[in-house]
Amino acid sequence: MAGRPQSLDENVFCIADLIEHSQRRLSKTAFEYIGGGAMDMITTQDNCNSFNRYRLLPRVMKDVRHVDPSSKCWGKKTAFPLGFSPTGLHGVAHKDRELGVSRAASKANTPMCLSSWANSSIEHVVAQDTQHTGVYAMQLSVVEDPEANLYTIRKAEAAGCKALWVTCDLPILGRRLNEFKNKFSIPQGLTVPNLPPDVDFRDTGKSSRMGYDRGMTWDRVRWFKQHTKMEVWLKGIMDPEDARLAVEAGADGIIVSNHGGRQLDGISSTLSALPGVVEAVNKRVPIHFDGGIRRGTDIFKALALGADFCFVGRIALWGLGYNGEAGVALALKLLYDEFYATMTMVGVNKVKDIGPQHLAWVAADGSLVRLADKKGHHGQRDGQLSRALAKL
Ligand SMILES: Cc1cc2nc3c(=O)[nH]c(=O)nc-3n(C[C@H](O)[C@H](O)[C@H](O)COP(=O)(O)O)c2cc1C
Repeated sequence: MAGRPQSLDENVFCIADLIEHSQRRLSKTAFEYIGGGAMDMITTQDNCNSFNRYRLLPRVMKDVRHVDPSSKCWGKKTAFPLGFSPTGLHGVAHKDRELGVSRAASKANTPMCLSSWANSSIEHVVAQDTQHTGVYAMQLSVVEDPEANLYTIRKAEAAGCKALWVTCDLPILGRRLNEFKNKFSIPQGLTVPNLPPDVDFRDTGKSSRMGYDRGMTWDRVRWFKQHTKMEVWLKGIMDPEDARLAVEAGADGIIVSNHGGRQLDGISSTLSALPGVVEAVNKRVPIHFDGGIRRGTDIFKALALGADFCFVGRIALWGLGYNGEAGVALALKLLYDEFYATMTMVGVNKVKDIGPQHLAWVAADGSLVRLADKKGHHGQRDGQLSRALAKL
């Protein structure tokens, strides 16, 4: 039939398939480490389900011969508004680990933020950037010893990272029940080379210098700004007041994130938190977003609610688990194709034109509540509507 898209793989036609087929190839412990969240996983699930509470509002007859899904991240042009959030221990999923993810990301012109708990060194990860995209960042799980933090920062800077993502929602590790039940630990043979070499990473719990820093306050942002030339982004912002304080503290950008529901269970989805943060920041710094994205339409919906760029965490690991680097490349291609199809069928030619006028909320009685007028004025972006909706 005319225009029927080619299948990219014999098993996997969307991310839900990728999850199912990666499960067949991963051990139970590895699969649950990746997919798991804290406690009852209310927040992990809500991250995904929140996207289903909105409906797209397509327009027809819009001349969509020249749809351009390209976007910008840390000043560089990217294929589309999607990148990889930091996820620790890729070696659990596949021997290609972070190096395979980096190769797939580079070939697809997709940004990648490396976890400080990665199994590959940041310089080796950036060296896989065969296409010279230059869109790499380093995440920092802040620990008590400033020298240990500086070790990771210096390595990232030397490797050419554009941004440092300071994770703010990690004063202690969330209670991930699967990890207790499966007695999860870092498999033998894997190392964590972005932490100082004298650290016993299998036993950081016993070393006070490597304990997560519970003493962090907003003035620490200035310390990071003083100690690196990279942009300093704060990851894990959910509250509008925290977003305002982050901007005042000098953050170059914010990542709306709840750690994929792996920290405190029972908090809101990131999609529900997004409009409030967008209103508080009021375009002073860019807002990036992660949590629950599994489809191209999800990316579109997050942008329509005010995110400037989206990231996915678990999808890199499910891609690795299914088929190493090729599995990650497949995931990116699927999401790109889905996002392109969404733009085309909603009737938008440029990413910057995606807005609240393209979205409606499904009310309790099944009727649609538009988020904005046809030009995108008012609505969800200023948060008033989200408060009104919350009362429905
Ligand atoms: C297995 C796994 C490991 C993670 N490791 C880190 C980490 O080291 N640092 C961090 O800031 N976030 C970490 N995250 C959270 C992700 O960066 C991201 O916020 C989350 O996965 C987004 O949700 P999604 O998986 O639904 O896309 C991890 C998430 C997963 C699933």
